[in-house]
Amino acid sequence: MVAFSLFPNSSLDHEPPGLLWSRQSFENTIHFMKRETFYITSPIYYVNDVPHIGHAYTTLACDMLARFYRQAGRDVAFLTGTDEHGQKVQRVAEAKGIDPKLFVDDVSKTFRILFEKLGISNTVFARTTSPDHYKAVQDMWKRLKDNNQIYLGSYSGWYAVRDEAFYGEDEIKDGKAPTGAPVEYVTEPSYFFRLSAWQQPLLDYYEAHPDFIAPESRRNEVISFVKGGLRDLSISRTSITWGVPVPGDEAHVIYVWLDALNIYLSGLGYPSDKEAFEKFWSESLHIVGKDILRFHAVYWPAFLMAAGMQPPKRIFAHGWWTKDGEKISKSIGKPIDPVEIMDQYGNDAFRYFVLREVPFGNDGDYSEMAFINRLNADLANTYGNLVQRTLAFVYKQNEGKLPTPGAMTAEDKTLLALPSTMLTDMTKHMEAQSLHRAIERVWEGLFEGNRYMDVQKPWSLKATDPERMQTILYVLCDFIRQMAILSSSIVPELSSKILDQLGIAIHKRDFDALGKSLTPGADILEPKPLVQKVV
Ligand code: MSP
Repeated sequence: MVAFSLFPNSSLDHEPPGLLWSRQSFENTIHFMKRETFYITSPIYYVNDVPHIGHAYTTLACDMLARFYRQAGRDVAFLTGTDEHGQKVQRVAEAKGIDPKLFVDDVSKTFRILFEKLGISNTVFARTTSPDHYKAVQDMWKRLKDNNQIYLGSYSGWYAVRDEAFYGEDEIKDGKAPTGAPVEYVTEPSYFFRLSAWQQPLLDYYEAHPDFIAPESRRNEVISFVKGGLRDLSISRTSITWGVPVPGDEAHVIYVWLDALNIYLSGLGYPSDKEAFEKFWSESLHIVGKDILRFHAVYWPAFLMAAGMQPPKRIFAHGWWTKDGEKISKSIGKPIDPVEIMDQYGNDAFRYFVLREVPFGNDGDYSEMAFINRLNADLANTYGNLVQRTLAFVYKQNEGKLPTPGAMTAEDKTLLALPSTMLTDMTKHMEAQSLHRAIERVWEGLFEGNRYMDVQKPWSLKATDPERMQTILYVLCDFIRQMAILSSSIVPELSSKILDQLGIAIHKRDFDALGKSLTPGADILEPKPLVQKVV
């Protein structure tokens, strides 16, 4: 039985109110309501490397989706974690002269700490070294064996430790894997999975489920790879010991990818507890980097189908971050430390930049200049200013109370109706994992808010028409409330600060609060500067 801790990271000193609310709301309602579900997973990260921007990126994207669907009222499971077996990890531990288990405990913790710092709202932090996960991997092995999908043979060929992948002779160029990873020739007894038998069923599955792999260009790449022919896959190693033993033949450990992919099942408690699995699996979305799409979109559905199980609902592959045009990783140099950036500029600024700057699915290049431009233009000028000028004016002019509106004009009504329309558009973009478009839509709304304020000029009506001024300020406050609800999955800390200033109760920060309105005359807090501009 897996204990479903909704926010294992809740040891945070300053848990944002949005998070707190989500947990309470979840726990209060789960017992008596049957809600739509959503299962979002990030890849689990190799513990040979210190966490960098790439790891933070995938997990932040998942977090935006998780928070969005929670606000939409869905019951969300969100898995992230660490991939702790395999030759790569074994070698690093050996080189450091540390017992692999102690080594992985240590590095896994750094990922956990990073995700706490990032404010990730994962419900599960899963590790491949956990006993429950061993059970799931061995259960998968037995299913495959019982279904005659595994046979014993011998592997002679190329292996890239960096990718933990086998490569065919035809894929090796200049002595390297297509990814540029160094390869070594291995000859060892090995169990094989009958992947070749799954070529046609996979192609049929892709055709019958056009939304299974996204974006479209990646889907086409996968289809042409599979059409090119599939060889049986080596799924055990005898030359390493750091892994899950093959049931009944402990001289072999299970290939690290067959091991790791099963985390998506074991993280739900499978096979001991099938309840969460049954509840969430049909709504599963794996977010992965483009480099590991083949494992997720070819091997994983083949393993599952061969075991008599359903593939996940959808797999989305995002692009890669580079810095100054070069790859980022410890082994290649030029790492970007997300913690350093967050310490300097704040969590939301980092999160906003990586999710907004690059269309989700494309590659992107990190530059400090682009980062500062976004922070200043989008967060400080567009969002921060709108809120700051409105709330400071209301607080001062109205003795810290929300204004009372009079009759509303067509412009007032249009502005107040905008957030609900925006939610419809945002939802459409989120369904397609066009995270950047969902964000763009919210910022278009914020521009409208600024424009309304500039046109209506409430400050100019103080002496001539104080009643109209009150109405305009009320409209602005109610608009800002709704915008902060919409932006909660994008910039959670900033959004919850705004909602706190407006005195919005924690349980009124959901999408169903959008059409409702603020209570006139209610107290607001003294506004504090929200976004620090970088000069
Ligand atoms: N352990 C496997 C995943 C197993 S999932 C069952 C793995 N781990 S990894 O740590 O090497 O990479 C994890 C994820 O980080 C991948 O999705 C990868 O694409 C992503 N990134 C690593 N570096 C990246 C960038 N520079 N930019 C964007 N994402 C990148 O693969």
